[in-house]
Amino acid sequence: MKASAPGKIILFGEHAVVYGRAAIAVPVSQVGAQAEVSESSRLGIWIDAADVGLHAELSTLPVEDPLAALVHGFCSTFLGKPYPNLHITISSTIPVASGMGSGTAVSVALGRAMAAALGLPISDEQINALAYEIEKLHHGAPSGIDNTVVTYARPVFFTMARPIQTLGVGAPFTIVIGDSGVRAPTRESVGDVRRLWESDRPRWEAVFDQIGRLSQKAREVIESGSWAEMGPLMNENHALLQQLTVSSPQLDRLVARALDAGALGAKLSGGGRGGNMIALVSDGTAAAVAAALKSTGSPRVIITQITPVPTA
Ligand code: PMV
Repeated sequence: MKASAPGKIILFGEHAVVYGRAAIAVPVSQVGAQAEVSESSRLGIWIDAADVGLHAELSTLPVEDPLAALVHGFCSTFLGKPYPNLHITISSTIPVASGMGSGTAVSVALGRAMAAALGLPISDEQINALAYEIEKLHHGAPSGIDNTVVTYARPVFFTMARPIQTLGVGAPFTIVIGDSGVRAPTRESVGDVRRLWESDRPRWEAVFDQIGRLSQKAREVIESGSWAEMGPLMNENHALLQQLTVSSPQLDRLVARALDAGALGAKLSGGGRGGNMIALVSDGTAAAVAAALKSTGSPRVIITQITPVPTA
């Protein structure tokens, strides 16, 4: 049985979302993770993930390994012992440690493929909860936005500990995603923001408030279809992320070049320090912005369209 899950980007609100403010994330279907699970006559649970050079039986992997943790978590939650004999194959086109949800997408795809292979009727909510547990291994204390957008594969307006709110998209819009080429673990930038916050809580709470307001405004403009108004909001969000020290010279350079090339707004996306930046473009400027990012050294540029999703 096969299952897949998309990548994702955060449009607004990263970091502030960890402190209870709203954030917006959207799936990116051009990249994704795939998992294939079949019952096997060979003893044990064998995991093949060629992208990361892994071919191992579950019991030989450290329990904190995210793939092993997912399989253990799945089996102990839904099956109990003894574990079935399985063969698992995982592949992904999502760049790792770059804010595109690579680890989460593998968790979601694998959870779904295991459920399908074993004939278990597992809901999105259960998959989301399982993926969140694995996020904790990657990130420490994640907000839960990544697993939510990847599981539901639709734009989300996310606030921690609140019911999931999907986001209506009034009119399609286009985002260019530029990879800085620098891998930066989210755990580190989240930890640094935590230290900053602890050093002067009133100051950083005020910054988180401003970011949260930007997410709220962005929701209005996305829902009403006046997406071009998102541009200045993205620029403001980037400036606030710079204050939080999570940008980098490469990200700033890519943001500046995107704006020079005609983007309506641009910002880093995700944990920062490296990973990706995003730029809002009109149809006429997408190619020019993508070319500008490539010529500034971005090793991977993706153009993605955010389209209205029919309500379930
Ligand atoms: O996984 P990333 O790099 O897109 O970062 C997630 C967003 C943060 O707000 C920085 C962390 C979190 O848990 O929400």
